[in-house]
Amino acid sequence: MDGGSVYLGVFSGMGVFYITTPIYYPNAPPHLGHAYTTVFADVLARYHRLIGDEVFFLTGTDEHGLKLQRVAEREGVSPKEFVDRMAGVYREYWAMLDISYDRFIRTTDPDHERVVVEAVRRLYEKGLIYKAKYSGWYCVDCEKFYSEGEYEVVGGKPYCPIHRKPLEFLEEETYYFRLSVFEDFLRRILSEGGIVYPDQYAREVLGKIDKEGLRDVSIARPRERVWWGIPLPWDRDYTVYVWFDALLNYVTGAGYLSDEERFKKYWGGVHHVIGKDILWFHTAIWFSVLEALEIPPPKKLIVHAFVINRGLKMGKSAGNIVRIEDLVERYHGSDGARYIIARIFNLYRDVEVSNELLDSFYNSELVDTYGNLVRRVGVLAKKKLNGIVENRGLESGLEKKITETIEAYREAMDKYETPQAITAVMDLLREANAYVNKTRPWEKQEPIEELYSLLETIKYATIMLSPITPRAAGRTSQALGFTITNPYETRLGGQEKYIIREAPILFKKIK
Ligand code: MSP
Repeated sequence: MDGGSVYLGVFSGMGVFYITTPIYYPNAPPHLGHAYTTVFADVLARYHRLIGDEVFFLTGTDEHGLKLQRVAEREGVSPKEFVDRMAGVYREYWAMLDISYDRFIRTTDPDHERVVVEAVRRLYEKGLIYKAKYSGWYCVDCEKFYSEGEYEVVGGKPYCPIHRKPLEFLEEETYYFRLSVFEDFLRRILSEGGIVYPDQYAREVLGKIDKEGLRDVSIARPRERVWWGIPLPWDRDYTVYVWFDALLNYVTGAGYLSDEERFKKYWGGVHHVIGKDILWFHTAIWFSVLEALEIPPPKKLIVHAFVINRGLKMGKSAGNIVRIEDLVERYHGSDGARYIIARIFNLYRDVEVSNELLDSFYNSELVDTYGNLVRRVGVLAKKKLNGIVENRGLESGLEKKITETIEAYREAMDKYETPQAITAVMDLLREANAYVNKTRPWEKQEPIEELYSLLETIKYATIMLSPITPRAAGRTSQALGFTITNPYETRLGGQEKYIIREAPILFKKIK
């Protein structure tokens, strides 16, 4: 299957930023590992809204399959009851972190089930699905078959390399998707670059194809084993394999088969965010399914590394999770938790978390640098100038630094490097704090020219941090009297005066 899609060219995606997270298995509440992806995606969504793009942000839950079927059985409820409850739990957690999704999609939503049925029907009619016997080692936690070389061997038995649990041997007559047909297409699209970001992950997939080749994959499960799923339209003794079902959520969310206009508009600007554990599914399988359906590949697939704790990937089965509610409590609300996540975020390397590391970012940056400057300048303006600070020109050192910071911030955000974006802003704020110490405005009388430049600095810093700490941004802009607008289109020194209502204490220190 090669030769471009009929759809190409129609999908411009100009000014549209469609962003997705993986849809999570709702077998248990989300933890810091899931929040890592979701907060990052939310920061990008808010950033793109800030700079005037039309944003659509999709997240949700992956509700079918053996894993959920078994959990519900253990709990003694029907899978539907179970996932209904857990979808609610997910929403509560995302509310706790101020996640600004536009749709929470569930694979049990009727519009999604329709898309899945229609998509597999199309693939079947194209001869891309056939029946054959399948056998292999399966991890229910991953909902994935492992081949030799991929799994670990413990005591002579195959183990899941991620969950460190024994694999189950499955042998069944099933339906296959002709993934092997897409080898040339995948090699081309992955080696051209530009979609998978960072590119090292594209090379990783290419390496795997070189080593193992591309084998056809099971696309269905016998109903007697996995009944909790969407039946194949031409053979109701089978349900659609949970990964095929799940991946299609991204097109459902954009309006595929329900609103073609909308779909064309959003799909051209689609950015998927995933952890590296599900890279293969989102490249080899997803790109091929899209090609088979004559839909162009995503604009970007942004892949990040893991949060690890005590040396292991954070996860329920490793027993090393950090709970979201604990983070929100420790860092005094959503902003603090969001900040430390965006601050440690890493596309390339796994990050080991500890209270010491997270506390130090929170205390030294958010509390001592940002919060401190806002409070100091607010107090000075109230006390010395009765809260009215006129534009008396910008101090040239700070003016230059603000301009450079906006540039550095933009570059970092273009590369999805939230920590770099944050450190650029913190540098600016540190310089402003040093400027206060040096000029000692508390010893001066009206007009105290320094204050205007300091307020401009706070304004730009607050705008740039607003996708990360939206509550503090709202509070600061209200208290100091400015609006949060596109930083690339706001004129530096353009505000006539600041009218200060209060000098807020934004963040509480962790002792
Ligand atoms: N349901 C599938 C995804 C289907 S998408 C079409 C799934 N769900 S999951 O609940 O297991 O979530 C996996 C994702 O959660 C990872 O890809 C990553 O985004 C996030 N993380 C979970 N634990 C993580 C870490 N310890 N570190 C970083 N991210 C991790 O797979």
